[in-house]
Order: sequence, then structure tokens, then C-alpha cells
Amino acid sequence: MCGIIGYVGKNEAAPIILDGLKRLEYRGYDSAGIALYKDGRFHVVKQKGRLEALRAAVGDTPLAGRIGIGHTRWATHGEPSDVNSHPHLGAKSRIAIVHNGIIENYRALRAFLESKGVVFSSETDSETVAQLAEYYYRGDLMDTVVKVVNAIEGYYALGFMCLDEPDRLIAVKKDNPLIVGVSKDGNFIASDVPAILSHTNQVCYLADREIVVLDADGVAFYNMDRERLEKSPETITWSLGSAEKGGYEHFMYKEIMEQPRVLRDTIRSALPDGSNAAVLDSLDVASFDKILITACGSAYNAGSVGKYVFESLCRIPVDVDLASEFRYRDALIDARTLVILISQSGETTDSIAAMREAKSKGAKVLAIVNVVGSTISREADYTVYTLAGPEIAVATTKAFSAQLALLYLIAVRFARALGKLTAPEAEALVGEISELPTHVEALFAQIDRVQYYATTCFNSKSIFFIGRNIDYAIAMEGSLKLKEISYIHSEAYAGGELKHGTISLIEDNTLVVAISCCKRLAPKIESNIVQVVSRGARVLLITNDGANPGAGLETGTGAESAAEEAAGARQFTLTEPTVNELFSPSLSVVLLQLFSYYVAANKGCDIDKPRNLAKSVTVE
Ligand code: F6R
Repeated sequence: MCGIIGYVGKNEAAPIILDGLKRLEYRGYDSAGIALYKDGRFHVVKQKGRLEALRAAVGDTPLAGRIGIGHTRWATHGEPSDVNSHPHLGAKSRIAIVHNGIIENYRALRAFLESKGVVFSSETDSETVAQLAEYYYRGDLMDTVVKVVNAIEGYYALGFMCLDEPDRLIAVKKDNPLIVGVSKDGNFIASDVPAILSHTNQVCYLADREIVVLDADGVAFYNMDRERLEKSPETITWSLGSAEKGGYEHFMYKEIMEQPRVLRDTIRSALPDGSNAAVLDSLDVASFDKILITACGSAYNAGSVGKYVFESLCRIPVDVDLASEFRYRDALIDARTLVILISQSGETTDSIAAMREAKSKGAKVLAIVNVVGSTISREADYTVYTLAGPEIAVATTKAFSAQLALLYLIAVRFARALGKLTAPEAEALVGEISELPTHVEALFAQIDRVQYYATTCFNSKSIFFIGRNIDYAIAMEGSLKLKEISYIHSEAYAGGELKHGTISLIEDNTLVVAISCCKRLAPKIESNIVQVVSRGARVLLITNDGANPGAGLETGTGAESAAEEAAGARQFTLTEPTVNELFSPSLSVVLLQLFSYYVAANKGCDIDKPRNLAKSVTVE
């Protein structure tokens, strides 16, 4: 996590860096800082808290200079505080650095430097880099960067400035993202494209342990032996508008509303002649006898839905594993295993490690990624892209939906290739998937009802989500979404599992969200509902007409159902269009996202930037 940015060019650096930090704030928001070079010294402002606090502090301290670095922090080593904020300077204030990542051997390095008389001012691992760089510096910053990289262990994107070489910035990365932007008015480093997109759409990607040297006139790339590398900029085709709120109060809401478009684009990409088709065609499906899906967080939940879809359509064994667990469990996989790795950012440290572990065992990795040029997209054997565009809200919505859509289509393709579906059967399923965006649009007619119901339960202490089979998989996503943005404790349970312990937590007025979209299992979940209601729970039922004939598609405000609930029914129902049960998670999840959104909004939570979280988790 953490976002870094650097600029050197013809313009004043401070506004460029502050604007870039605003767009990187989703990566961490415990504190922020900026360092500019001017007239023989560094001018540094660092502030605990959101970027606004830094802006206010900068407002009182005029900052001038055409070269500088900035940072927005998600604290790991050292509490959020002014002094632990970046940029960090060496003790002689000769070198300034910004860092995203973790220096794993910082204790040993710090002890070594302290034994040489270096006095540290913060508790961070990152300051070690600044102190080490000053310790090594002998008049050549690039040489210093090489020595630092050889000494540090862990993962990092680092930007360096040096008082004695005041016209250049140097940056290097390993396992954490760093892009380089080029323009005629100046050059940039940044953790992500939106940070610099208002200045340039020409971007180069750094590979691990490659070094970039930037000055106002150009950029040059080197390997660790200081040999020159050739790189041509790629053109970013999306616009900054897609990374802005566009009149909505929160990015999360905007991104929920974008889902029909995102689904259409992503579905089209996997159809013949779509942008993902060639990669999918190139996969020799028959060469695999097992699929392992791995990912973190919501992407893992998408994978859990995927397991049901792949097993049902392809009749091939599928395991789903958290990337953070998979990487250390010495999994039984080999060249006949296809590992499907799902990641919005393509930069999640545990997912990158899982990919490398899978490849080292001979498995082939098919990555489903949203961010073009990310580490996973470049290192996987096969990469297909979700066409969600930039997702800014920390809680994922549209990227998750796009992941589901791609998983469905890949499963249909595989099933066809394996002879488990006839051509007309496959075509019919693709037709059903292609209808999903329209069904999602229809769901938006229920927004008032969701909003209304959220006002009746935002004070809950604990909310449980239940479902069976694929409904259980999507219940996990509903529960994660709710807890991450509303801070209400929540857990997802397989409906049949409640009675084995968790039911003891149900008391008067506990809210249970029950998802029931599989016709054949509807009576089972109904029994589970009866079990919790008889113990005092109230229930929000998410269902469809297929599973609960007569459920209908109610619109309106929900007040009428609330009256019913008050009269003892204890149940409020949200109904979605009836689709093939394998694809119903794509509809349920939209209702669950909206429910979480409105609960969090009613509680006054910081929806786009929930506490303690960051969008891209680049630490273990
Ligand atoms: C939750 C959420 C996270 C991510 C997880 C993986 O809303 O967004 O749980 O899904 O951190 O991130 P990616 O997909 O970037 O690998």
C-alpha cells in the first residue's frame, strides 16, 4: 500500500504532486508528505491524517521547486504520525526518499547504521533506506541506488532525490508497482496511472530491479549493472474522467451504477473477436485435469462462485484457496493444473507470491486482472482483463462483477472445449450471461427499497449472511462488503452450518440476510430462516421468483413491507430477476452492495476510504 509520486520538469512541482497524491489516496491515508528541492536544500512538509491536512500545512508554507517527491501512507512500521510520514531524509538531509512496501531486514540495517553513529528520527523501516543511501553516497546517486537495492530485502517502490544532483530523480522497484510518465513538460514516477494522467498518457512500466533516471528533458532506464535498457512509452487509452466521481457522492455508488456497462464490455471481450478471445483460444484446456483458483478478499469470493460454475459446467475438480494460504501450503499441483489467479489491482503481494509459487511447480497461471501493465498481468502465463476501468473506492464492486462475468464465460468455453456442452447449449448459456447487464439495470428499480430497509438496521451490532451452495459463496461477499465499509460485525455461513454452533449468536432482532436464488435449495434455506426467526431474528431475504414463486419484483419505497414486518412478519424481501442459478450471484451481489452502501451511509462512515484499509495490498 502507500502511494508515491515524483516530478521533475518545467512546472512548479508542488501542485502536480499534491494533485497526484489526491488520486493515490485510495492506497493509504494515514498521513502524507511532500519534499521539494529548491536553492540548495529540501523543503519538506509532512502531516498526519488525510491529504487535506497536508494541503492545509502546505498552504501555510509556500513551497517552490520544479523537482519533488510525495507520499501518502498506509502505516505498517511505526504509528501514523508526522515524524513517521514520508518523505524521509538521511541524517545529513542530503538524500530524500519515498517508499511503498516493506524493508524486511530493516532492523539489521538500522543496527548497523546506528553502530556507525547514524541517528534515526522515525520508527519506520523506510527511513533505513534514506539513511543507508546517505551512508553509501559518494557523489553518484545511481551507484548509491544500486548499493541500497543490493543491501535491502523485502519489497519496494522507491523514489530518491539528492542535494548534490538536484536536477534528477531516481526510482527503482521490486514487487511493488511503479510507473514512469513522460511528457514534454516534465517526467513522473507514480504508483498508479491516475496520479499522472492529467499530465500525460505516455507511460513506461518498470520491471523488478530496473532503475529509472528522470530529469526535465527525459528518462533513461538501466539494469542493476547500469547497462542502458530500451523502453518505449505505451499510450493509456482511458481518460481521467473515468477516475472521477462524476457528480455522485461516493466513488462506490458511482461504481455500483457503472456495473451494467462494465458487464457489457467485459462480456463482449470474451466473445469471439473480443479483446480477451485470443488468449482464451490459446489455452489447451484438455491438458489440465484440475483447476485451482486463488486470490484474496473479494477476488477470492469471486473465485468461490467460480468453483461452483466450473465444477457444474466442466465437471473438473476445482479448489479455491486464499492466496496468502496457498503460497505456504506446498499445494499438490503440477503441469496438469491450471491456476486461475484473480486480482483487480494485479499488485496484491500475496497473489503475486501465489502466482510465482504455482509457476515454480510447473502449473500454468491464467490471470484475471483489471489493471493493464500490473505485475500479475505481466508475469502470468495467460492474462485476461476485466474491463471495469479504474476502480477508486476501496471496497470493490464493479471489478468484482466483471470478474464473475469472465469466470462464467471462461467456464462455458472450457466446458465446450472439454465436450461437456454442445454448441447450442454453450450458445444458450452465453445468451443468458449476455442478458445479465439488463437484469442489473432492472435491479436498480429496487434502490429505494434497499435504501429504506438500510435505515432500519444500521444500528445492528452484528449481521449474519446465510446461503447455500453458490448463494453461500455470494453471501461471503455480502458479508465482507458490509463489514469493511460499515464496521458492523458480520459473518457469512452456509445455511446448513448455522445449527452447528453459530445459531447461539442469534438473539432478539439480530439481522440475518438470507440469499435464496437456487430453486432446488429454496426449501432448505426456508427452514434455516424459520430456525433463526423462531430465535428472534429478523430476516432480509434476497431471492427470485424461481426460488420463491410469487416473490415478484417489488419496487416502491419498502414502507409497505416494513409495515408488514412491524406486524410480525419479521421478513423483508428484495427480489431479483430469475436467471440460471449459476449466474444469479451477479444479481444478488448488486443488492448486497447497495445494502452495505446504504447501511454505511446511514452510519456516516467514510465509504470510499474505510478505516485501516487500502485499495492495493502490497504487504504480506
Ligand atoms: C474488498 C476488496 C479486497 C480485495 C483484495 C484483493 O472490497 O476490495 O478484499 O478484493 O484486497 O485485491 P486485488 O483484487 O487487487 O488483488
